[in-house]
Amino acid sequence: MDEGVSRIRRRVSVRKRDRPSLGSGFAAPTAAELKPGDEEGEEAMVAGSRRRKTVEVQPVEVSNSEPCLIAHFGGDDTDPGLLPRMPTEGTQRPNDSEEDMFGDYDSFAENSFLAQVDDLEQQYMQVPEHRKHASDLSTEDLCSESIKHNKLSITTVGNFTELKTDEHIKNHSRHEDVSIEPDILYDVPSSQVLYFENLQNSSDDLGNQCTKERDWNASSHKTVNEELPQNRIEQHQQIDDSSSKVRTSSEENRRKSLKEHLKSAMTGNAKAQTPIFSRTKQLKETLLSEEINVAKKTIESSSDDLGPFYSLPSKVRDLYVQFKGIEKLYEWQHTCLTLNSVQERKNLIYSLPTSGGKTLVAEILMLQELLCRRRDVLMILPYVAIVQEKISGLSSFGIELGFFVEEYAGSKGKFPPIKRREKKSLYIATIEKGHSLVNSLIETGRIGSLGLVVVDELHMIGEGSRGAILEMTLAKILYTSKTTQIIGMSATLNNVEDLQEFLQAEYYTSQFRPVELKEYLKINNAIYEVDCKAENGMTFSRLLNCQYSDTLKKMDPDHLVALVTEVIPNYSCLVFCPTKKNCENVAEMICKFLSKEYLKQREKEKHEVIKNLKNISSGNLCPVLKRTIPFGVAYHHSGLTSDERKLLEEAYSTGVLCLFTCTSTLAAGVNLPARRVILRAPYVAKEFLKRNQYKQMIGRAGRAGIDSVGESILILQEKDKQQVLELISRPLENCYSHLVQEFTKGIQTLFLSLIGLKIATNLDDVYHFMCGTFFGVQQKILLKEKSLWEITVESLRYLTEKGLLQKDAINKSEEESQYSFHITKLGRASFKGTIDLAYCDILYRDLKKGLEGLVLESLLHLIYLTTPYDMASQCVPDWMIYFRQFSQLSPAEQNVAALLGVSENFIGKKASGQAIKKKVDKDIVNRLYLSFVLYTLLKETNIWSVSEKFNMPRGYIQSLLTGAASFSSCVLHFCEELEEFWVYRALLGELTKKLTYCVKAELIPLMEVTGVLEGRAKQLYNAGYKSLMHLANANPEVLIRTLDHLSRRQAKQIVSSAKMLLHEKAEALQEEVEELLRLPPDFPSIEVSATEKA
Ligand SMILES: Nc1ncnc2c1ncn2[C@@H]1O[C@H](COP(=O)(O)OP(=O)(O)OP(=O)(O)O)[C@@H](O)[C@H]1O
Ligand SMILES: [Mg+2]
Repeated sequence: MDEGVSRIRRRVSVRKRDRPSLGSGFAAPTAAELKPGDEEGEEAMVAGSRRRKTVEVQPVEVSNSEPCLIAHFGGDDTDPGLLPRMPTEGTQRPNDSEEDMFGDYDSFAENSFLAQVDDLEQQYMQVPEHRKHASDLSTEDLCSESIKHNKLSITTVGNFTELKTDEHIKNHSRHEDVSIEPDILYDVPSSQVLYFENLQNSSDDLGNQCTKERDWNASSHKTVNEELPQNRIEQHQQIDDSSSKVRTSSEENRRKSLKEHLKSAMTGNAKAQTPIFSRTKQLKETLLSEEINVAKKTIESSSDDLGPFYSLPSKVRDLYVQFKGIEKLYEWQHTCLTLNSVQERKNLIYSLPTSGGKTLVAEILMLQELLCRRRDVLMILPYVAIVQEKISGLSSFGIELGFFVEEYAGSKGKFPPIKRREKKSLYIATIEKGHSLVNSLIETGRIGSLGLVVVDELHMIGEGSRGAILEMTLAKILYTSKTTQIIGMSATLNNVEDLQEFLQAEYYTSQFRPVELKEYLKINNAIYEVDCKAENGMTFSRLLNCQYSDTLKKMDPDHLVALVTEVIPNYSCLVFCPTKKNCENVAEMICKFLSKEYLKQREKEKHEVIKNLKNISSGNLCPVLKRTIPFGVAYHHSGLTSDERKLLEEAYSTGVLCLFTCTSTLAAGVNLPARRVILRAPYVAKEFLKRNQYKQMIGRAGRAGIDSVGESILILQEKDKQQVLELISRPLENCYSHLVQEFTKGIQTLFLSLIGLKIATNLDDVYHFMCGTFFGVQQKILLKEKSLWEITVESLRYLTEKGLLQKDAINKSEEESQYSFHITKLGRASFKGTIDLAYCDILYRDLKKGLEGLVLESLLHLIYLTTPYDMASQCVPDWMIYFRQFSQLSPAEQNVAALLGVSENFIGKKASGQAIKKKVDKDIVNRLYLSFVLYTLLKETNIWSVSEKFNMPRGYIQSLLTGAASFSSCVLHFCEELEEFWVYRALLGELTKKLTYCVKAELIPLMEVTGVLEGRAKQLYNAGYKSLMHLANANPEVLIRTLDHLSRRQAKQIVSSAKMLLHEKAEALQEEVEELLRLPPDFPSIEVSATEKA
């Protein structure tokens, strides 16, 4: 692979971290056993975390524990008197992560597991495709698909196979005259079908694979294997061999259907005279059959192809060709993967320009961990949308290669994660959820099961409270698990040495970018190329060739129309605008001057987009989009609902739309292609661009595999010229720890969890922990006036004074260091609920007051209690609307307001602008206003009508809803720790569900599938796909034909994600079954006499 002039620079000078005498703290067995975790944030879907520090995008606490990013695009964007602070990605699922540290939204079924199994099987039988199963084998049968493709996948679909085969056999017994010849394999149990099929093919496969391998080696990839030390390969193969053997028993086991398990268990129970005896017998039988299976599987595994592709099966290489079109690794990717340090599993930071192909390296390392070392992997990504994209992309790998892909974003994720028996799990998480996950693993003593943690966009560690959470997560892993490898990557890192010291990591960097990116500046109508060799950093390139009428000149002084029409409609173009409102205005302005010819481009498909937008919005359509989409143009910002965003992104990715006007949020968001990226101004809201932001935005142009060239044009005015010249030439900004700066969400939260999880329980240990943090590394730069010791002492004192910690004297000495700490009940509740410590006592007080007179006649009172404090504190009510809504409340609902101290009289006076003498708590009034919004939304389930009623952007309303769902879950976990709040538990469980899926109940199972939002769920439901089982068994080709505006890629991703989820659920149930049938280890062993046995 030709990397051109790319220079590979390797810095392996790892400064060993000086942790002041970590000795005792680290060596303590308890600490070593302990393991940490929680967070996430998605900006208003795509709001840029990278811009968090700007005025536009501000971190907002949607819930105490999980800071939500709020993209506030101020200026013309600001809705007067309202609250146009849009939760950013971090907020979109505002509390997605923050919220529910130990939540379990995954399984909503409250039935017993037996009922669930029954349900699962019943529903399975109803799958339409199933009824015509026999004739549809070629396309719909997961089993046959896997048989066709390879043996590794066979084991992964055991459950499906069995269920299908059962059904098939039933059909056969019903129609005995059906010829069995063509389907002969289906007359034997599915496990044997697979086995015979495998056996039959194994020798062929072996031959084929050898041939394939030879071909591969003959190609440029030869170097890959040659450069891998032989002993390394062998070592992996040994690991692989042994692990594949271990795998075999349970995989085979898994092939037994749940139904069979249950049937035999129940029959056994019914017949059993002496339960102990029959169980033992049953166990023996199980053991025997397992042993037979192991023997069988050993034969199969002899043809397993593990190792040739960076210690991975060559199938992985094939999958990359098949799913991603990647035929060959870039040279740097190969170099990086074969670094000694990587092979020795040292921690690693690597940095390459945008679109350099960083992800692939991380993915190969993750697959090595999952498949070769057989340990779980956590991948931390910045936003919910990106997590979902990654889940969709990797689910097919999981299905083919036999590992689970589990989503930890939004309201999804289980804490602690389900302990899988055989297959390993890849947890893909947002920052907040990743933290919760690590906490829960530490708490349950399972942190050692985490073999690798990958952090994408590592520079985010320097961004506000989310950065602080990321830092805590990594510091806890470093402290509690010596065997967990950490890998971080980013395109925009500067002070890498600090990060290296923190992570005890090696560093790899290269300037490689597969597609050249040309940077231009536009001043008046002249275009200059950014040229670091030129004296002032730029050289003249050309004059813009445009003839503008006077009207056009007035309307478009920046020549945007001229710039975009050089590219669209043949190629795509992104125009970054400083504010949301500006995005809409620019989109409309451009369309006004586009020729009618643009309307003819992909006319039908654009019409479909409009139709679909209406469908997902109950017939509503934004008037701006209505005007711009026919031209192939749309705006994209956090004011859109996530459904709208997804639909528009899909249309843009497939070229139906060719121009997006967007806010900086998109720079960090979904991978959208652009031939040209235009920056409308060097500002984000009113703040001047940072170099990191600039780099990320222009980095969207010229993505490998999509475009062959890419260019960026920054439009600037003379007045900004000097600053822009600095911007294009200066180094990237350093990133600094926010652990101490983010007081309640940073250091306070950290200390509470350290003591709550018993990672460190006395001053010395906490101090030692702090020395190992990123803050510890940078302390001398960040806080000169105080020592780290002083900061630690103060923070612990603060938590003790707040009643969250309690001191226990170790001995009689008055010395501060002679105390150990334990967490109080309130402290534990706050920690478990991941409540921002700034609000924990207010929350306690509010809940306590609620006990005195909770109004349960409607949901309003409960909703009030779960309306996020942080969102309420930024809300500015429209008093007229407030008054109108208040007047329409029932007496019981008005009683809620009265109990909270908000009277109709007060609101009325506010609405009429009268002065008010009586003091009323502003926070309560504002919070009640937001509760009205949520209450109306739950009643009407229509974001558009609520948006109109309250004159709030629909994207904001959606963020409020997700924020409330998250916070509701947090409050639930808070209450679970406090006995006096037992009554809230059942109530909040239900409310959380209502808030999480504010949609019709029948859509919920479909929306559990990653990437299926409300609009798509409705489409699927109407097309007859009513359950997870329907989706998992769907044929993507049929889906494309049945559903409007669904690309092949999306259809495949939906089906893969559904298969993965169904598989995960089935596995969890099966595990439960086995657990139930297992003899308890502490079962009293009473000798059974011979007569009794007889
Ligand atoms: N070896 C390869 N051959 C061809 N295409 C590749 C290769 N490696 C990666 N790509 C493609 O390059 C594109 C960009 O890769 P990737 O998303 O990993 O970039 P990145 O370095 O993470 O950039 P950013 O910093 O912007 O996130 C992707 O579409 C990916 O599929
Ligand atoms: Mg990337």
